[in-house]
Amino acid sequence: MKISEKTINQLLSDRNLPDNELNALLESSGLDELLFSSADAIRRKIYGDEVYIRGLIEFTNYCKNNCYYCGIRKYNKKAVRYRLSKDEIMSCCSEGYSLGFRTFVLQGGEDPYYNDKLICEIVSEIRERYSDCAITLSIGEKSKESYRAYFNAGANRYLLRHETADEEHYKKLHPESMSLQKRKQCLFELKEIGYQVGSGFMVGSPYQTTENLISDIRFLQRLKPDMIGIGPYINHAQTPFADFANGSLELTLRLISVLRLIFPYALIPATTALGTIHPQGRELGLKAGANVVMPNLSPVKVRKLYDLYENKICTGEEAAQCRGCLERRVKSAGYNIVTSIGNVKKEEQHSE
Ligand code: 5AD
Ligand code: FES
Repeated sequence: MKISEKTINQLLSDRNLPDNELNALLESSGLDELLFSSADAIRRKIYGDEVYIRGLIEFTNYCKNNCYYCGIRKYNKKAVRYRLSKDEIMSCCSEGYSLGFRTFVLQGGEDPYYNDKLICEIVSEIRERYSDCAITLSIGEKSKESYRAYFNAGANRYLLRHETADEEHYKKLHPESMSLQKRKQCLFELKEIGYQVGSGFMVGSPYQTTENLISDIRFLQRLKPDMIGIGPYINHAQTPFADFANGSLELTLRLISVLRLIFPYALIPATTALGTIHPQGRELGLKAGANVVMPNLSPVKVRKLYDLYENKICTGEEAAQCRGCLERRVKSAGYNIVTSIGNVKKEEQHSE
């Protein structure tokens, strides 16, 4: 099928495309410039030149799961494991707050050491000390009761990528013990409870087809998340996927733009994985429609240990260095970091 400018115009006016046209658009580079500039125009119309920042605190790299793509999977016996104490997490927040962060993202492997009581204690303490901040959790699949307890303790956002919305593909990326249905259920429960929800997927993960990517988009259209995080799959030697190639910069950028056009109001991060496969990856992501960056606030001593994939950037820099570096990078791309809480904008609140 041939695509033309008409395809992008249709995407702009309908915020949607039939499967065959999406397929053609994702598989061809011919319209990339137009696609990127159209996505940028939409993001500027809604978010101006503002880029929201989130301070990421990777507080444990223990994980009970064994996802085949992930460097901190349980069976990676070479991984050196760490956990941050509540006090260490609080000092990350304190440093982050003085650097202008108003969102803290607590991310970790699925680590039973942090039971609901402990997570709630940590969340409550952050909530008490930083009433003007958003608290985001990214700690995997839990029961609805647990999600509700964290919410009641003061968490208000949750990130849980669906990874792939296709059953067969999901089985190729995960062991038997995990299920796509459960993952989707968690996402809908999080929404029901009232969290602002982020989901997303890896681009170019092993065995992924264009049809799989279209299923991802269709699933997101049903879920209607506030944030959509995507990044290229990146190899890790200590996983069963050690011999697979990385996802590509081009396809990731194309998808960022397509997502911006389908979900004009979404928060779309220019991810660390994107910055890892290309030195200007995050800047290019912003220019293709992304509007969030999530630098690391974890103590430098543990940064290298949270190695989901190889050669992850920013593992040697202090939080303040990353903050300054990002400020310059975002400026050089033509945007500006803002230090507000950075809530998603909703269509109904947005006046032209
Ligand atoms: N390459 C890229 N992204 C990865 N993630 C996990 N492993 C990899 C990898 N090898 C992503 C997953 C997860 C997020 C925290 O990191 O999408 O949801
Ligand atoms: Fe971390 Fe540049 S953003 S060093």
